[in-house]
Amino acid sequence: MAGKVITVAQQKGGSGKTTLAAHLALGFRAEGKTVGLIDLDPQGSLGRWYVTRLERDEAACEGLDFATSSAWGISMEVRKMANSCDIVIVDTPPKVDSDLRPALRVAHLVAVPVAVGHMDLWATEGVMDLAAREDKPVLLIMNRTRAGTRLGAEVATAAKELGAPVAKAVLAQRVGYAEAMGQGRAAIETKGPARDEVSALVAEVAERLKAG
Ligand SMILES: Nc1ncnc2c1ncn2[C@@H]1O[C@H](COP(=O)(O)OP(=O)(O)O)[C@@H](O)[C@H]1O
Ligand SMILES: [Mg+2]
Repeated sequence: MAGKVITVAQQKGGSGKTTLAAHLALGFRAEGKTVGLIDLDPQGSLGRWYVTRLERDEAACEGLDFATSSAWGISMEVRKMANSCDIVIVDTPPKVDSDLRPALRVAHLVAVPVAVGHMDLWATEGVMDLAAREDKPVLLIMNRTRAGTRLGAEVATAAKELGAPVAKAVLAQRVGYAEAMGQGRAAIETKGPARDEVSALVAEVAERLKAG
């Protein structure tokens, strides 16, 4: 198994797991890496995103593989994909329970998006506990940030106090992320600040994977 596995997890729905999974995937593709995506969420948003992309332009899915999996089948699916992909990204449903454990167990890094808000932060501790039990490194990634707001500053400080590393790169609140997702794209494929945010995040995640 050659590829590195990133599991994206967060109990809170709407925190940006699927957005993060797709953006990391295309971010790593832009670096020339082959990427495999696995959707564990029965809602299937990542699958919809992938199919939308595939139907628009098959060539845009070159080097970008996709599969769904059940919670218990994930280790087999990951092993298969990691044989042919440099990076495997697992998107998970918005719950933290025993079903999540196999997806954490196969991870080299657990990426946890935290949409700026205290409720998201409270939800973060569950996935951190579970990752710690599996002895897996966690990276918190602040999402939907708004520069200069008091809430943003408060949540950033509180996130640091949780004890897991917080990525320096953040994804700001931008309609471009949501728009791109609906088209089976990622904001990294457009010009503008979102592209720089995603590149910075990918570089940071790559460093973490190297260290782990
Ligand atoms: N940085 C962002 N800026 C703007 N909208 C965002 C951002 N991140 C996520 N969203 C939007 O928030 C909603 C939830 O995101 P999603 O990735 O589906 O979260 P999850 O997979 O955790 O449920 C979606 O409508 C998505 O387009
Ligand atoms: Mg999702």
